[in-house]
Amino acid sequence: MTNPDSSPEQDKIRPDLTAFVGYSAHTSPETLDGKVEVPAEYIIKLDANENPYGCSPRVNQALAQYPNLHIYPDNGQTRLRELLAGYTGVHARHIVTGGGSNQLIDLVLRLFISPGDEVISCEPTFGIYSFSTKLCAGSLVEIPQDENFTVNTRDIKAAITKRTKVICLANPNNPTGTIVPRPTLLELLDTGVPLLLDEAYYEFCGETLTPLVGTYKNLMLLRTFSKWAGLAGLRIGYGLFPPKIADYLMKIKMPYNVNVAALVAVQESLKDIDYLMSHVRAIITERTRVFEELKQIPWLKPFPSQANFILCQILKGDATELRLKLQKKGILVRYFDYPRLRNFIRVSIGKPEHTDVFIKTLREIT
Ligand SMILES: Cc1ncc(COP(=O)(O)O)c(C=O)c1O
Repeated sequence: MTNPDSSPEQDKIRPDLTAFVGYSAHTSPETLDGKVEVPAEYIIKLDANENPYGCSPRVNQALAQYPNLHIYPDNGQTRLRELLAGYTGVHARHIVTGGGSNQLIDLVLRLFISPGDEVISCEPTFGIYSFSTKLCAGSLVEIPQDENFTVNTRDIKAAITKRTKVICLANPNNPTGTIVPRPTLLELLDTGVPLLLDEAYYEFCGETLTPLVGTYKNLMLLRTFSKWAGLAGLRIGYGLFPPKIADYLMKIKMPYNVNVAALVAVQESLKDIDYLMSHVRAIITERTRVFEELKQIPWLKPFPSQANFILCQILKGDATELRLKLQKKGILVRYFDYPRLRNFIRVSIGKPEHTDVFIKTLREIT
């Protein structure tokens, strides 16, 4: 039957996608020029868990001199996979790289999910698991975390059915910053269900299941250069998979899915690990300070975090309003307002001078 409100072309669109709401991405500073009280270049961006220190200067130098932008990248990602094998200690045959780890989440779900299949995730968590599940016409089974944002192993196991194809878990989790304890991860691996373990924030917490990648046939582990290496704008992530899964992913990925600039950037970043990790350590130190400062504000309840952000419940007042007031002052934070995260903000850890302005502004605007 045709829909009277749509054109004949629109009627051909997959019906399950006509009501798809998409991913609510962060506000780009350039779209705020003239709408906030500071010029765009002074906006303090604490909404997307980016690295305030930027990338290694070696990356900028190498990109400025790179001569081969007119040549397609190596579709087999040979050099990139070797470099990442060196960084992770996992053989290159396990490794697949993508345009950000988002692209790999999407690729993995495309590989496993047929319409009607189930993906388990633990709410609240990273929105792309739901986004890609829906794009694959899969069904997301959301298992609530408890009030301290601990994953409930028993409930996850009870939710596994014949149609369960993947369990998605972020460790540390976004937006809560909490760690999934290792025994929980091992118990879930023992179910045999493919576990997509997203370690996007690994460098900020040091906990990883990397050494188990060769042992478990159902362990798929994701990492990114967006956070610790300051390369969010270049879009480069990677995954560690059982070799057979890696082979399938290499076959179904778009050709040349990782650009040559990302290869140069990874190469240079891995020559500058000490420099980059000094910034990771600065962010971890600042995380403690931000947490202590937020704790002093009586209408806020911050949650301890192992990542480069802190989730905060607004005990008095409205998170949407607070976000807008902060935005007006040129400070961007993420806010959440849905049943499991009613009235919460998430603030990324910036440089100490960003914390100073953020905390001062918070105290002034209430
Ligand atoms: C848990 C988690 N996984 C993956 C990503 C995506 O990272 P990338 O920039 O590599 O796509 C993010 C980004 O915020 C994240 O929080």
